[in-house]
Amino acid sequence: MADKEQDKVAVTYDAEAVPEPMTVRRPEEHVVKYFFRKLVARKSIEQILRDGEKSQMKRTLGALDLVFIGVGCIIGGGIFVLTGVAAAQHAGPAVIVSFIIAGVCACFAAFSYSELASMVPISGSAYTYTYSTMGELMAWIIGWDLILEYLVGAATVAVSWSSYLSALFKDAFNVTLDPKTTGTPVIWENDSFVTTGNIINIPAILIVLILTAVLVVGVRESATVNAVMVVIKVLVVLLFIFASCNKVDPDNYKPFVPPAKDGEFGALGIIRGAKQVFFAYIGFDAVSTAAQETKNPKRDLPIGIIGSLAICTSLYIATSAVLVGLRPYQELNVAHPISYALETFPNTRWLRIIIDLGAVAGLMSVMLILMMGQPRIFYTMSRDGMLPGLLGRLHPRFKTPWVPTLITGACCAVLAGFLPVDLLGDMTSVGTLLAFFLVNAGVIILRWTDPDAPRGFRVPLGPYVFPVLGGVISIALIVLSDVSTIYRLLGWLGIGLIIYFIYGFRHSRINHPERHPVIPEEVDNGLDTSEN
Ligand code: ALA
Repeated sequence: MADKEQDKVAVTYDAEAVPEPMTVRRPEEHVVKYFFRKLVARKSIEQILRDGEKSQMKRTLGALDLVFIGVGCIIGGGIFVLTGVAAAQHAGPAVIVSFIIAGVCACFAAFSYSELASMVPISGSAYTYTYSTMGELMAWIIGWDLILEYLVGAATVAVSWSSYLSALFKDAFNVTLDPKTTGTPVIWENDSFVTTGNIINIPAILIVLILTAVLVVGVRESATVNAVMVVIKVLVVLLFIFASCNKVDPDNYKPFVPPAKDGEFGALGIIRGAKQVFFAYIGFDAVSTAAQETKNPKRDLPIGIIGSLAICTSLYIATSAVLVGLRPYQELNVAHPISYALETFPNTRWLRIIIDLGAVAGLMSVMLILMMGQPRIFYTMSRDGMLPGLLGRLHPRFKTPWVPTLITGACCAVLAGFLPVDLLGDMTSVGTLLAFFLVNAGVIILRWTDPDAPRGFRVPLGPYVFPVLGGVISIALIVLSDVSTIYRLLGWLGIGLIIYFIYGFRHSRINHPERHPVIPEEVDNGLDTSEN
């Protein structure tokens, strides 16, 4: 009987894709050793690439398309909303320095992402890289952590979008939307939630639900539509910089670093500001999720990642410099600082309307890319057996990963409808910083474990300078977060670990190939590239 079962297993799992079933305890292997062997089981790069060959995606994207995808996901709520809050609450005019520090951290991570993406050009981002470098447990942790970056990030941008929609109504039609139904019902103050008198943020919920429907039906965001949104966004930012720089009052830069007060301003305030505006840089890693549609991924992914980040960093530094020069930093603690800063100047109504419109259009592309990325990560994890198989099925008609898309949309709508932008943004930032830390560590580990694997891009100055500095800065920015943010991050990871041991540990494809007879078809990622 036992032999028969054995035979059944042997013929049903894909032995080529999963060479060594780990469920079997080796003779005389201690149970603890066996347990840890399962936790660190790694998916080899060959195995990942072999799985990727089953992809049905068309390879049509070039380097420029990837730069557009990067910029499309990077420029959003961070620059349009959080810049003002960071200046008013943390860094003062030195928010410019905060942007430089956060940009440096992002740049180091971008180098590491580029090396890994050029080596493992497969969708799944940091989760996939970690599976091949640090093994299953860390891969699960990073996959779970990426929910903060993508799902919570999308909710953050939805709340920002709602603010700019209200600003647009006010600037264009002189209509004030009722804050009870367009504002956040709670804020986080002195370590507890405080009610604001508002009830629900309906526009934030609506935009999330609309985009979810779009993603389920698979009305594809074509590369052309994305490019148009990016051009609009970049033009609006450039318009703000060039049309406002002659209104800058040098007195607003004094004092450049306001004295320390309640743990803010001063040097610590600059660092805390860096952690807050770090949100603005999130998104360049979305380029790596387009790996399987890229014509020459080993060359083009690094160009897309580093190129998009370089463009956005320059725009951010210029924008923040102009913004804090327009009005005293204390006045910038609003949800739409870029257009608000111009309110005191005559004849700027049209400029403000264009900025509000650009923000409303531009933020939608960020949400769309983030909400498209999250289901794809769920899908990849499900395909690896880390999440239930339901999350890894495509809709029979639309050919989209509809179940994870609906789950993403529902969770995102609830978060966006009830929570404030700074709390959501903080969670997104610490989650992403943790991912960046692990990606930097992944580069170092793979240079040790797989030194001869072909790499289309190598981090400059070897694996120790930038990845180590990037890792240290990432952890430093996490540690300098509010204690409550760190607790929330730890709580989130704790919940993830419980789910892993209940499900993923007992079902993962690599450790339990007998449970996964067939590798499912590849996800249709919803990014129509056929127009290029
Ligand atoms: N970087 C993106 C934004 O600022 C997530 O909205």
